[in-house]
Amino acid sequence: MTVVGVIGCGAMGRGMIKNLILDGHEVLVFDINPEAVTSVERLGAIPMSSVQAVAEESTYLLLSLPTTMLVEDATIGEAGAIKVMKEGSFILDMSTTDVNSTRKIHEKAYEKGVSFFDCPVSGGPAGAENGVLTVMVGGNQGEFHQVEPVLHAIGKEVKYIGKTGSGQVVKLCHNIVVSGLVVLLSEAFLTGVKAGVPASKIAEVMQEGSAQNRVISVFGANLIGGTHENVKFLLSHMLKDIHLYMDLASDGKIPTFLGSTINQLYEIADHKGKGHLDTSAVCQVLEELSNLEIASKSVGN
Ligand SMILES: NC(=O)c1ccc[n+]([C@@H]2O[C@H](COP(=O)([O-])OP(=O)(O)OC[C@H]3O[C@@H](n4cnc5c(N)ncnc54)[C@H](O)[C@@H]3O)[C@@H](O)[C@H]2O)c1
Repeated sequence: MTVVGVIGCGAMGRGMIKNLILDGHEVLVFDINPEAVTSVERLGAIPMSSVQAVAEESTYLLLSLPTTMLVEDATIGEAGAIKVMKEGSFILDMSTTDVNSTRKIHEKAYEKGVSFFDCPVSGGPAGAENGVLTVMVGGNQGEFHQVEPVLHAIGKEVKYIGKTGSGQVVKLCHNIVVSGLVVLLSEAFLTGVKAGVPASKIAEVMQEGSAQNRVISVFGANLIGGTHENVKFLLSHMLKDIHLYMDLASDGKIPTFLGSTINQLYEIADHKGKGHLDTSAVCQVLEELSNLEIASKSVGN
């Protein structure tokens, strides 16, 4: 039985833990929130007292933490995992974090004989719960086969992308496009509604034409119905990913005419207290400026 440690038992970590246990692994966990720990203890996970207590027993150490800083603390910080992990063990960072930080952690782990893989995911809490996440993997290709079986316990699509940081690069590029499409759909729906056509009709035809996209499938109902409390992906999480993308583009000196606009709209939405709502709530910024709601015209009115 392989011992797998998980740091962070939140919305994403919980489902990963469940599926690792179902796959037959012994799963040791640590989280600063006792309620999160109790919830996974019920599934069969073994609670530990600290990051290092988990790390020294684990062959694979998964992290599912909210910020880059927390991932750094848990790995290369004063009381971080790398100090106590066995040579030949693996760190799999499932969080969405900064690309440069990922590369820094990789180097420090490598010096200690520990292999680090960035493994950001898409699919949300439901994907984690059902073990069907898409996992984007960056790290040493020669060792990928050693981490693949563990990743398959939690992900349906496990894609090796390239060297360390590549998984995060793909995730951030993916999410700037998703966040941007939500903004563009908001603008197009408002324009259509003002001109007398319900957004539902526009969306229906888009899904038959060249504008067809999965963002409509995921966020369309919330955009059209104004049901932003129905959270598919938190607006605050999207903003975090946009900031990471903007840092990446800035490092590469890539112009971000569109990215900057998208960033500003999500920042305004966050400043207006919409961070706890669905990503689709960014449309309310445009709605307020337009003095019009997308949901104001539905079929039949
Ligand atoms: N929620 C999503 O839809 C989603 C989708 C894809 C990727 N992600 C990424 O997955 C990661 C986790 O997201 P989430 O939604 O599960 O967040 P979450 O806030 O639900 O869970 C994070 C957990 O980490 C714990 N934690 C915080 N600091 C800690 C510390 N120092 N030591 C141990 N535990 C600590 C928290 O108590 C919490 O239980 C993030 O990087 C996020 O960007 C989230």
